[in-house]
Amino acid sequence: MPNTIIIGAQWGDEGKGKVIDVMSKDADIIVRFQGGANAGHTVKVENEVYILHLLPSGIIHEKKLCVIGNGVVVDPLSLVKEITDIEKKGIRVKDRLLVSNRCHVVFPFHRLLDEIRETRKTEGTSIGTTKRGIGPTYADKSARVGLRIADLVSKDFPEMFSALCRYVNKILIGLGAEPLDEAKILEEYQQAGEFIRPYVGDSVTFLNKAVREGKSILFEGAQGTMLDIDFGSYPYVTSSNATAGGAITGTGVPFKYIDTVVGVLKAYTTRVGEGPFPTELKDEIGALIGREGREFGATTGRPRRCGWFDAVIARYSAMINGVDYWALTKLDVLDSLKTIRICVAYNYNGQYYDTIPASINVFAKCQPVYEEMPGWMTSTRNIKSFDELPQQAKNYINRIAELTATKVGLISLGPDRNETFKIG
Ligand code: GDP
Ligand code: IMO
Ligand code: MG
Repeated sequence: MPNTIIIGAQWGDEGKGKVIDVMSKDADIIVRFQGGANAGHTVKVENEVYILHLLPSGIIHEKKLCVIGNGVVVDPLSLVKEITDIEKKGIRVKDRLLVSNRCHVVFPFHRLLDEIRETRKTEGTSIGTTKRGIGPTYADKSARVGLRIADLVSKDFPEMFSALCRYVNKILIGLGAEPLDEAKILEEYQQAGEFIRPYVGDSVTFLNKAVREGKSILFEGAQGTMLDIDFGSYPYVTSSNATAGGAITGTGVPFKYIDTVVGVLKAYTTRVGEGPFPTELKDEIGALIGREGREFGATTGRPRRCGWFDAVIARYSAMINGVDYWALTKLDVLDSLKTIRICVAYNYNGQYYDTIPASINVFAKCQPVYEEMPGWMTSTRNIKSFDELPQQAKNYINRIAELTATKVGLISLGPDRNETFKIG
């Protein structure tokens, strides 16, 4: 299989975990390139359900190597727990995981600062973050005060951590919070560092050697295009580049080795947390989609907001990521609907937009312009080929491809690995 980037095309939770699991069987290495334990990627294999936060979804395939790339922010305590929990389920992680020594470390005060930022009304509205400390950790990385995994496992860690605590305590006291229990955190992090040490290495050199040897790499995106720090619905975004460019900076593999970009696209739209959502349905249809699609956050358990498919977002996402083909997921969730709507443009005070406006205040006031299609009103759950799909479902898929000028290459009609087929 060629080297392939898989990204989320909407606001996350498109079913990336499932698609990555399906595609992992043809890859040698699976690498996460951004985000952190804010991600929740679900993989269902027969009766077992795995929810991955930091570990790449390829870990479920016994023989594959998995890498946590330099662009990921790692909470060592979460990683230790995730490795321990999945090993209890019979998945071997030892000798199959490499954690980049360049990953930035998430500390408890990052989580605390995330929490404070979310609850302080004076600093604007809350974003509805996962409170995993993601924003403050990336902020420290950019401010050049963060510590990396290489520091965590080095003998200099206590000294470096102590210097960081002196700086952070000034901020915490300024915000009216308690200063840090430095000794306790140090002990926990040193223990976690010891646990992680065998997995830590130079992922950049490892991955570049692998591509030159002709190994096939799957780049696993987290979150989605509309949550990207540069291209998403800023400020209601996450703090990393969830788009295809993030795979380059988040791994150190140059773009000339990338062959294919797959966009994971849900057959409708969801989002968790705050922020504009033009096609949101606050009615019975939205509730039905949420029920049928089991739309609850895999990380926080929060109900996801649901709405119609938004072709403006999908088109924008195809453009920014250079999507070669869509993996269209959760079409089965729409099985019972009589009529299905697709948003084809936005109306902002009489002005039409066919792309995403940069201003959040404009975006918040955009009204969706819909076209309607008849639903298929029959179960698609056991269908295994495009030809077997009801005509109305084929029409819906073809319309999505037409509106986004991007073909649909993979269809998912259920959470299980086997409920997937290729087109063409
Ligand atoms: P991710 O963050 O993009 O990996 O997506 P999540 O795992 O957070 O959310 C997707 C949810 O939809 C999970 O519960 C999956 O098991 C489920 N899922 C994935 N594909 C399909 C599908 O085609 N149909 C249905 N009904 N569920 C799916
Ligand atoms: P996966 O990889 C859906 C959302 C949060 C919040 C915003 C910022 O499973 O698709 P953060 O904690 O990152 O600072 O929160 O981003 N968010 C996600 N929404 N899926 C995710 O990941 C998300 N990761 C973050 O709800 O609105
Ligand atoms: Mg998710």
